[in-house]
Amino acid sequence: MPIVVESVSKEKFDDWMAHQKQVMLASAAEANVDKTWTKADLMAKGQDLYNSKCSACHQINGQGLAPAFPALAGSKIATGPIAGHLDIVLNGKTGTAMVPWNTLNDLELAAIITYERNAWGNDTGDLVQPRDVRAGRSLAVK
Ligand code: HEC
Repeated sequence: MPIVVESVSKEKFDDWMAHQKQVMLASAAEANVDKTWTKADLMAKGQDLYNSKCSACHQINGQGLAPAFPALAGSKIATGPIAGHLDIVLNGKTGTAMVPWNTLNDLELAAIITYERNAWGNDTGDLVQPRDVRAGRSLAVK
């Protein structure tokens, strides 16, 4: 059996490795998007992300800081239709400190939104999956 041994520079090899890693990460991310996540997984991931990205304004306990930052506990948006909740998180609200968070990936946003809809007494029971976020992105007008 003929075997081809390619001798490559360390640099070229490192590039190749980096590329392989990218390909693997991308396909893992895809698998995560298509997967249906459990509530427990989404809530755990969502809590971590919320605490690190959102709590500076909305506070760890979801009570916000009046009058600048609205409470998410009991919020009409966080307990109302999912589409409206997705919209403000993806697109932000122009002219306010609520910036678009559309650079977070579908899974991250699904987890944060699920968390907001079920934490602090917001017992909507809603689960938002990554594919729902993906669908919401394509509806985005802004
Ligand atoms: C720098 C401060 C800040 C951060 C950080 C922030 N927000 Fe906001 N958020 C706001 C402000 C201000 C509003 C009110 C906008 C308005 O006037 O309608 C708001 C509104 C909201 C609302 C609508 C609440 C309601 O009932 O009106 C949701 C939901 C929300 N933010 C989710 C998030 C999520 C999710 C994150 C993290 C990924 C986040 N926010 C991070 C400042 C912030």
